This record gives sequence, C-alpha cells and structure tokens, in this order.
Amino acid sequence: MSFLVKHLPLFFTIFFLLFNSSIAIYDIKTYGATSNGKIDSSKAFVSAWAAACASTSPATIYVPQGSYLVKGAYFNGETCKSKAITLRIDGTILAPSDYNVIGKEENWIKFERVAGVSIYGGTLDGQGANLWACKTSGNNCPQGPMGLTFSNSSNINIRGLTSKNSQMFHILVDNCQNVKLQGVKVSAPGNSPNTDGIHVQYSSRVSIMNSRIGTGDDCISIGPGTSNLWIENIACGPGHGISIGSLGWDVEEPGVQNVTVKTVTFTGTQNGLRVKTWARSSNGFVRNILFQHVVMANVQNPIIIDQNYCPNNENCPHQGSGVKISDIKYRDIRGTSATEVAVKFNCSKKYPCSGISLEDVNLRYRDQPAEASCANAGGSASGFQKPTKINTNNDSDDEEQEQPDLWMAMGDANAYIDKLYNHYADLLDLAVPTNITPTVAPYPLEELSSSKRMGHNDFSDYFYNLNGWTTVEAGAYTTTYQE
Ligand SMILES: *[C@@H]1O[C@H](CO)[C@@H](O)[C@H](O)[C@H]1NC(C)=O
Ligand SMILES: *[C@@H]1O[C@H](CO)[C@@H](O)[C@H](O)[C@H]1NC(C)=O
Ligand SMILES: *[C@@H]1O[C@H](CO)[C@@H](O)[C@H](O)[C@H]1NC(C)=O
Ligand SMILES: *[C@@H]1O[C@H](CO)[C@@H](O)[C@H](O)[C@H]1NC(C)=O
Repeated sequence: MSFLVKHLPLFFTIFFLLFNSSIAIYDIKTYGATSNGKIDSSKAFVSAWAAACASTSPATIYVPQGSYLVKGAYFNGETCKSKAITLRIDGTILAPSDYNVIGKEENWIKFERVAGVSIYGGTLDGQGANLWACKTSGNNCPQGPMGLTFSNSSNINIRGLTSKNSQMFHILVDNCQNVKLQGVKVSAPGNSPNTDGIHVQYSSRVSIMNSRIGTGDDCISIGPGTSNLWIENIACGPGHGISIGSLGWDVEEPGVQNVTVKTVTFTGTQNGLRVKTWARSSNGFVRNILFQHVVMANVQNPIIIDQNYCPNNENCPHQGSGVKISDIKYRDIRGTSATEVAVKFNCSKKYPCSGISLEDVNLRYRDQPAEASCANAGGSASGFQKPTKINTNNDSDDEEQEQPDLWMAMGDANAYIDKLYNHYADLLDLAVPTNITPTVAPYPLEELSSSKRMGHNDFSDYFYNLNGWTTVEAGAYTTTYQE
C-alpha cells in the first residue's frame, strides 16, 4: 500500500478542514463560462450555483472581467446548505439581444427561495433595444423578461450593481424580507417601454439607498403588500418618478404601509412622488407614507395622487377606487414643475384621502408659485402651504439686502438644484447630509464665518458649524440649516 493511499483519510481531513475554514470560491470560468459574450454561459452559472449552494461554508461565485452571454439563469435556494452565497461580479452579463430567444420568458436571471445571498458589483445588460423598437412600432411583440428577480427570499444584499437596458423591469423584489440595495445604477432610455427601475411588491424591510436610476418607466414602483420600505439618496431621471401603485386592480389586495422616501432628486421626470390606483372596488390601502427632502427639477407632476389611474384611457373603470389612502406626509419638497399644477390630489369619491399633510412644499412654475388642485382630499388636508417661492427664508427684501449671503440662503434656486443634482449624480456610496431644513440662522454671517471652518464635504465647498447651525457655501450661494 502506498503512503498516500494509506493516509488518504488523513489527507481528506486536512483538505476538508482547509476549505471549511475559508470561503470557498467558485469561478464560473472553471465551470465552462466563456467571456467573449457570444457563447451561452447559462450552464456554467447554474453549475457554479449548485456547487456554492451545496457548500457547507460561505461561498463566493466569481464572475471575472469579460462579457458572458446568458440566455437565462434560475437560482433556487430551497435545498442550499450554504447560508451565505456571494456573487462577486467584475464582468458583464449579457441577455440575448434577439427577443425571440427569451421574450416569452417571465424572468431572465431569477433567484427563488434563497436566503443570505449578496451580489457585489457587476453589470447586467438586458440588450432590450430590439424589443422596445418592436413594442414602439406596435407589432405583436412578446412582453420580455424581468431583468433580475428575487422571489420568496430573505436577507439579500445588493451593492454596486449596474443594470442597464432591461427588456422589461430591471430589478424585481417579490415576496421578500430584508433586502438591501445600495449603490445600484439603473439606466435605460427615457422612451423605452416598461423598463421600471426597481419594483417591490409583497415584501417588507426593503431598503434602496444611494442609487441612480434613469428609465423609460417608474424609477421605483411599489406594488401591493409592501411594508417597511426605506428609500434614501436617489437620483431619478429620466423616468416616471417614484410610484406607489398602481394599486386596486384586485378586490382582495394587501395594502402598502410605512414607506419612507427621503433625499431624492427628480430631473425631468414625468412624475415626482406619485400614488396611483385604479377606479375599481378593492380592499387595499396606502397609509403611513413620508416623502421628505425632495428636489424637483422640471418635473411634470411633482406631487400627484391619482385614484382614477387609467394609462391608455381605454376601457377605464369608473367604479370609484376602493383603495383607502391616509397619512401621507410631504415635507420639504422644493424645485420646479414643468406644468402649472404641481400638486394634484385626485382621490376616490367613495373613500376620500385623509391625513394628507404638506409642510414646506415650495414648487415653482416659470418663476411663479405653482398651483395645486384637489378633489376628495379637501377636508382632511392639513398643514398645507400654498406653494411659494423656493426661498424658505423670511421674504423681506430689506433683510435680504442687508445680509445677502446669509439670508439669501436658497436665493438662486437653479444653482441649488444644479448643485444638488450634480451632487446626487455622483452620490454612489457617499455620505450625504440628509436632514437639511434651510432656515434663517440666528447668527450674523461674520460670526458663522469666523467659527471653525469645517472643511468641505461632498455637498459643499465649505461648511461651518456654530451651536448646531451649519452653513454651507457652495459656489455662489450659501445655505444655512440646523441639524
Ligand atoms: C412564494 O410565497 C408566496 C406567499 O408566501 C406563496 O404563495 C408562493 O407559493 C411562494 N412561491 C414559491 C415558489 O415558493
Ligand atoms: C417602518 O419601517 C422602518 C424601516 O423602513 C422601520 O425601521 C420601522 O420600525 C417601521 N415602523 C413601524 C411602525 O413598523
Ligand atoms: C380627476 O380625475 C378624473 C378622471 O381622470 C378627471 O375627469 C377629473 O377632472 C380629475 N379631477 C381633478 C380635480 O383633477
Ligand atoms: C419676517 O419679516 C416680517 C416683515 O419684515 C417680520 O414682521 C417678521 O417678524 C419676520 N419673521 C421672522 C421669522 O423673522
């Protein structure tokens, strides 16, 4: 008997220990993936998943640089032993550009019943242009698959992923708990049909942060059964804004509650903050929603609740929506509307909206305060401030002249918006001041300026701090806020 054979159990033990104590890496190239973007690598992805899934320790599937054509990948986690599977992607995953290949599928890349899955980096390219052209020309086209789907899953972490030119929605979170999306970049042309950025439904504890989304449909859409959703630091545009809905198509429908949307810029979008429901009977609801610190730059419908939603105006239902909308807060919403009526509440006749509150809503249309329209939301609106100048300081001209830098805080609205927008455009993974409420500081400028110059953050050229008041200098303007 050779030495090796005699000691084989020992070798296996050492081998096992070595691998068990470290993270197992599964490189898709060793499973036969080809990086020229031409040969279908679907099988390699699924084989690497099977191996990672069977691992008793944390496992990493590695996708090196290069382009990988994938006709479809289905990752089921039902029987996985590994409790932590990471996809580390340096390359680009390409969908077939011919929509006849996968156009009838519901999903392109789908994770189902997985727990503890992370995706770091990478680009998903749905190559949707041919399908969009088909849809736009009105031919008989397939619907196209969702780009990346997580279904019936929990503890998901997505960081630094780019998803572009999806045939349908880019990212779908369905029936999931505890999902974090950070530093995600979604891009598709403004005229590409049904290319929603991120759609969340039947899910709770989902957060979407520090992300830039430009699409031909909603940047983020929120479907039935969504609760405890957190959206923060998002640049949206082009697209149709951030939408709750459409809801209320079904009679039996779980509601949407506890959604926070803060520190968002909308640039040239069709809508900003939207809630939309069909005018049909439903037991659905929308409640406990906060929209805060939002900048609108040339947005067609900055704030809209539409309970008569009917996009193509064909066979519209007129039953009056059964979806009950309550406790929606809009706080510190500023910027420019592309239309005269910047705030539209068109609520259900049967179930008027209640508990709608607007604080510091300052929207302008062509340098004039924009208008608001209201139906069936009247009696219950509170704290509503008629949109006025974007300048939230005391409007006394004398004071502005005396203390131009300080009191003009938000004087140049366009510069402010540009600055904010440029800022958000580069926001991936940056710390951003979030609770900015520009106010008149109780200190003269000299005192503030002579206070400690704190250096600059990514929002400003310089900022100062005095007794909790912060003054930010950014280019030609200065703003002051209290944290
Ligand atoms: C996903 O979850 C929903 C709701 O819990 C359930 O009805 C459905 O059967 C599940 N699907 C799968 C594939 O497990
Ligand atoms: C609302 O959702 C947030 C997460 O987005 C969570 O931290 C908070 O506890 C939830 N509030 C309630 C009352 O459930
Ligand atoms: C509400 O929507 C209906 C249906 O689209 C429309 O006819 C009506 O004019 C709208 N009302 C307001 C106040 O916008
Ligand atoms: C704003 O200006 C008006 C008119 O000059 C003045 O009466 C009022 O006290 C000022 N309010 C604040 C908060 O400074």
